Amino acid sequence: MLLRSETPDDRPAIGKVVSKAFADPATPGEPGEVALLEALYACDEYIDRFSVVALVDGELVGHAIATRGWLDGDIPLLGLGPIAVAPEHQGRGIGGALLTEIRERATASGEQAIVLLGHTGYYPRFGYVPAIPAGILPSDLGWADHFMVLALDDRELPRGTFTYAAPFGV
Ligand SMILES: CC(C)(COP(=O)(O)OP(=O)(O)OC[C@H]1O[C@@H](n2cnc3c(N)ncnc32)[C@H](O)[C@@H]1OP(=O)(O)O)[C@@H](O)C(=O)NCCC(=O)NCCS
Repeated sequence: MLLRSETPDDRPAIGKVVSKAFADPATPGEPGEVALLEALYACDEYIDRFSVVALVDGELVGHAIATRGWLDGDIPLLGLGPIAVAPEHQGRGIGGALLTEIRERATASGEQAIVLLGHTGYYPRFGYVPAIPAGILPSDLGWADHFMVLALDDRELPRGTFTYAAPFGV
């Protein structure tokens, strides 16, 4: 498997992977994550080194992105998502490798923490812990323990309310 930064040429293949990964038989049509990604590529909070693709035998099979978000409007953190692996390639560590790659890139860039909204059965194995008890609040407190944070260094985490990149609308 090869991990590298996304380039604009990758975007159609990323869209296909995201579309398949988030497909929901109960909700026909393109999953909302596909349009969200297009908006993220174009927004001010997009940071190219935090958009990473995974390739197996030259085929693009996974993607993860973290974009700039803000705590109380002025403290920069990263917001991770969407992350997707093509269904036929899931369960082989590709999602984990993408999470590790984003964490390493963020640490190397001096970022303080990554937050995400996700499955409580998956992300804690990568060090993510519930963010609300740590004092980092989402716009919707109903996200509860699904809203998680990963500190990237020994600095004390700042406290406040997190706002994702504008296309998320939260
Ligand atoms: C979540 C996702 C990116 C993980 O990618 P992956 O390559 O399958 O992940 P890995 O191989 O590193 O890890 C697989 C493990 O994650 C677990 N896992 C995957 N999705 C999970 C979920 N929704 N809830 C809990 N555990 C999950 C698997 O059960 C497996 O556990 P095991 O190692 O104990 O068997 C992938 O399943 C995916 O694209 N899902 C659909 C889109 C999605 O839900 N994205 C995340 C939104 S928060």
